[in-house]
Order: sequence, then C-alpha cells, then structure tokens
Amino acid sequence: MHTVSTFNEMKKKGERIVMVTAYDYPSARFAAAAGVDLILVGDSLGMVVLGYDTTLAVTMDDIVHHGAAVRRGAPEAFIVADMPWMSYHVSEAETRRNASRLIVDGGANAVKLEGGSPGRLDAIRAIVDCEIPVVAHLGLTPQSVHRFGGYKVQGRDDEGFQRILQQARQIEDAGASMVVLEAIPEELGKQITQSLRIPTIGIGAGRHTDGQVLVYHDLLGLSGMDPKFLKRYATLDETIITHLKQYANDVRTGEFPQRRHVYVPTD
Ligand code: KIV
Repeated sequence: MHTVSTFNEMKKKGERIVMVTAYDYPSARFAAAAGVDLILVGDSLGMVVLGYDTTLAVTMDDIVHHGAAVRRGAPEAFIVADMPWMSYHVSEAETRRNASRLIVDGGANAVKLEGGSPGRLDAIRAIVDCEIPVVAHLGLTPQSVHRFGGYKVQGRDDEGFQRILQQARQIEDAGASMVVLEAIPEELGKQITQSLRIPTIGIGAGRHTDGQVLVYHDLLGLSGMDPKFLKRYATLDETIITHLKQYANDVRTGEFPQRRHVYVPTD
C-alpha cells in the first residue's frame, strides 16, 4: 500500500504517479482494479455526480458519505478526500475537526485543500499538526470560481506566475505532502515540480509534473466535459444510452423477459 513516503520515493526515481477521482463503491473498485496509485474523493463530486453548477454546495456530509463508499470499494488504496469550501476557512478548531472527520468517518488517508494564501497556510499547518497528511491545490482552484470570474487558466502573466511559484514553496514549507496543480502554463508546472521536494500532480499543468490526475467521469466520457487538457478514453455516456434504449425496446416489444429469465417451481 502507498504512503506519503512511497510517493516521495516515486518522485525521486522519476516514476509517474497516477491519480484519479472516484465517488462511490463501483468507481473505487474499478480504480483499484486498474492499479492507480491514489484515489481522490474530489469535490468535483458536486458537478459530475450531484448535478451542481459549481463545487461550492458540496458539504462535509457529502464527502464523508461518498468517501466511506470509496473506501469500501478500494480497501487498500491511498485515498485523498477534498475538504469542501468553508470547511477550513472559519476557525482552526473547525479545520482540525473537519479534517479528522474525513479520516475517521470518510475513510481517507489524507485531505486536500485549495489555495496558498496566508489563511490556507495556517490551515495546512493546523491539519499537519493533527498528524494528517495534506495535499495542497494551486492554480485554478475551483472553490475560487467567483473570485476568478470563471474557470480560467491561472499564472499566465508574470505576476500570477511568480505568485503561484511562491505559494508552491510556501505550502511545502507549511508541511504539505503533495500538491495538485490545475490549469496553469506548462512552464510553471515544470518550475514548481523542479523546485519542490514533494510530488506535484497536474491536471492541465503540462507534461512535467510528477503525476497526473483526471476526473473519472471526464476521462470515461460520462460528464459531457471536453476541456483542452483532457484525454477522453471512452464515450461511456453513448454506450450506456445505447444499452438502456435496447432494454426499453426489449420490454416494450416483449423481447425481455424470455422463458430463461422466469422462475419455475423446480428452480
Ligand atoms: O475535485 C476534484 O476532482 C479535484 C481535481 C480536479 C484535482 O480537485
């Protein structure tokens, strides 16, 4: 089973780290069977599973509920659970309590939180002080959607580039064990990866990060999303609709059920 140390070793050896999101028992089972290195119970849950427009409405209860199902589906996996918006912003005591709940009730090995402001650095220190590994998240942090004015690539101008690079160094100094870099120029992903000891996991951060993460529903073609950074490995939405249509047709025409689907007294 992976630990924070094995991920550090992978970075040192130049072995790419594979992360994918999962939100329930079957997606976790499939991720584990595919041998991914770590599973993220992301708050993208809100958008790809619960149908919200943003991740902001996701609650602690949501992540705990789905995280526990992911743990049941992947008992041996290293699982990271997202801290929902406002679960680590109000007070240090609340931050510590929420992080520990994701470990104890949500089945996670580590928690992830977004941003690199002084308040977020304090949150990282407080959670690490509870002996809980923290994955930071910089660049396009979806919980900042209203402040950013949309889901926009970050760090394109020199000021933004330098700020994110500095935040990356600060989150490492605060004790983060890993960092997700989302929607930033490839050169920034490269410089952060070269200047940190902890592993970097990219999503739209180019080819030079220590690992990659994609949202399960995006890579399998279940979300209708097609951003530039995505490689879509399947179009499962079409496959599912085709088979549901066949089922509906079979019921309507009497093709299903057949005699072999029927219980008889000798069964
Ligand atoms: O919530 C999520 O799925 C994430 C990934 C996009 C990194 O944070």
